Amino acid sequence: MLTFDFITLLIYIVHLILQILSIFFVLCVKTMFSVESVRSDFPILSSEVNGKSLIYLDNAATAQKPDCVIQAVNQYYRKENSNIHRGVFYLSEQATTAYESTRDLVADFLSAEKSSEIIFCKGVTEGINLVANGFSRSILKEGDEVLISEMEHHANIVPWQIACGQTGAILKIIPVLEEGSLDMDAYKSLLSEKTKLVAIVHVSNALGTINPVKEMIALAHAQDIPVLVDGAQSAPHMEIDVQDLDCDFFVASGHKLFAPTGVGMLYGKESWLERLPPYQSGGDMIEKVDFGGTTYKGLPGKFEAGTPNISGVIGLRSAIHYLNDLDRFGASTHEQSLLGKATAALNEIDGLRIIGTTRNKASVVSFVFDEIHAHDVGTFLDAGGISVRTGHHCTMPLLKRFKVPATARASFSFYNNESDVNALIEALHKMKVFFG
Ligand code: ALA
Repeated sequence: MLTFDFITLLIYIVHLILQILSIFFVLCVKTMFSVESVRSDFPILSSEVNGKSLIYLDNAATAQKPDCVIQAVNQYYRKENSNIHRGVFYLSEQATTAYESTRDLVADFLSAEKSSEIIFCKGVTEGINLVANGFSRSILKEGDEVLISEMEHHANIVPWQIACGQTGAILKIIPVLEEGSLDMDAYKSLLSEKTKLVAIVHVSNALGTINPVKEMIALAHAQDIPVLVDGAQSAPHMEIDVQDLDCDFFVASGHKLFAPTGVGMLYGKESWLERLPPYQSGGDMIEKVDFGGTTYKGLPGKFEAGTPNISGVIGLRSAIHYLNDLDRFGASTHEQSLLGKATAALNEIDGLRIIGTTRNKASVVSFVFDEIHAHDVGTFLDAGGISVRTGHHCTMPLLKRFKVPATARASFSFYNNESDVNALIEALHKMKVFFG
């Protein structure tokens, strides 16, 4: 009897161990990054352009959308459409819950302390305009300085030019070195008691350079200067922890994060958001309206006037769930491998010069040819189904610094594969023959 019990127990234990191992195995396989598996999540990748299979290499401009995001928006309009924060009926309450739970999700995604520190906006451009507008109305004075860099996107230049123009503050520029990194010595010497804000891009959309923002924030904070980080190009490629960075503001665009266009996020430390005045005004951002005076909602409502992009936020929720389920380390290792392969192969092409050669780069490679204009490069590649961006990439001062009017830019996402890189290189070789 005793022997029988012992054998039963042994069988039971072995069975249990096997079950645990199989669950572990399934979890590992499920979460391990596989490019072929993620490609099937993006319907557009199996389409054709100009009679050729689409090879999409313009991810820095906008990312493609996984089926779950497309379905979420579709489902919202088919079954859930309603305005938020206004109705007591079922659909409105459901839409409000979906909208507000996305704020919690975004707060987790950026590792913010509180979800009230997340403001939904149209994207990076609107997020920066919100902060610049608040600074021009309540912080900046004549003679103050705002510090940006030579590699900023126009969205992080023009709002500050306007804010400085309105207040008499001065815009100061951190220069870019030849290999495409920031001149950190110049940065340190530009920080002073006059500096009221540093606004800096995390990853350059035109060069791919990853800036040492954590170090820059620490240097600025040592002099009590707040820092805004433009995360348009970093959030899609790396995990963001705003508390670890200790940035005062962080902005990102949904459409580069696999969500729909027209939705984005501004993170701001509570103390800063409390200090800034409302950006836009109207419905939903108020506490009480009276002809004798109006009071505003607390955070985050104070910054979200009018009916927001509800379906965009629903799509963003699905995109963030998608990213949370992805092996992001595996995805970013894969992107780095594509960048390395593309860079090595481009360097082998005669007459081609890469603009932005610093070692610390993310998923972007910009190049020019001695004798072929970037737009001709783009048109030739498009005929082969390959989408790249050509032009100034909304970074005119940066291109002026490199003395080029335009570049061709290939930018990768985790769903690109090696054959996309090979197709790009092969097409560029053919183009060289074509243009003689
Ligand atoms: N800022 C986007 C780009 O770099 C549009 O292409």
